[in-house]
Amino acid sequence: MDENNLQQQFDQWAATYDADVGHGTGFPFDGYDRVLARVIELAAIEPGMDVLELGPGTGNLTARLVATGAEVWALDFSAEMLARARAKVPAAHLAQAGLLDDYPPDFRRPFARVVSTYTFHELPLADKLALLRRLAGDTLQPGGRIVIGDIGFPDAAARDAIHNEAAETWDDEYYWIMDEAGPALRKAGFSLEYEQQSTCGMTLVIARPS
Ligand SMILES: C[S@@+](CC[C@H](N)C(=O)[O-])C[C@H]1O[C@@H](n2cnc3c(N)ncnc32)[C@H](O)[C@@H]1O
Repeated sequence: MDENNLQQQFDQWAATYDADVGHGTGFPFDGYDRVLARVIELAAIEPGMDVLELGPGTGNLTARLVATGAEVWALDFSAEMLARARAKVPAAHLAQAGLLDDYPPDFRRPFARVVSTYTFHELPLADKLALLRRLAGDTLQPGGRIVIGDIGFPDAAARDAIHNEAAETWDDEYYWIMDEAGPALRKAGFSLEYEQQSTCGMTLVIARPS
């Protein structure tokens, strides 16, 4: 699907998104609150830290980040999602941009943390890796970390089991398959900590290649 169509889909989803994640059981949002809470723990944010968030959607993680005392800068390509995030978290700095595109000038600088939930699975593994390389190269301060919460599985068998169970709610996207993605990330020089948080929710902490 091209980026314009995908953006339109997210625009249309914005009004019902919070109700959809609110159930927190079953695919794709099983353990949603736990994933967001764990991302906050793993990010270990200190008050005043500059944090870049990718794909804030309606601002659910953004609100938790602001509550830690972080200065949050967040990019999303959906104007409708951003409108809801703006209303929910007025203190965050929000801008419209594609994750793989050039970022607005205020966002082109190093951040102490880069965080993202339920967004990277829109990208094929090669694009995930390219984005992570770019973030690690240009966007992350020395000693910084990237923390991701997303839909993912330890291996393809675990994905297939949930696919069979989920039936109608299944959507084919680029979910993390960690026995493929883990070695690819390590080969690219990243160190990572992966935790499975629910049947389909996982977290990743990724450090810059040394
Ligand atoms: C499923 S929502 C996740 C929202 C929020 N982070 C959460 O955890 O509930 C994915 C968000 O990422 C945005 N997004 C997806 N692909 C994107 C891309 N290539 N560039 C910019 N934003 C993107 C969508 O517009 C949407 O707001």
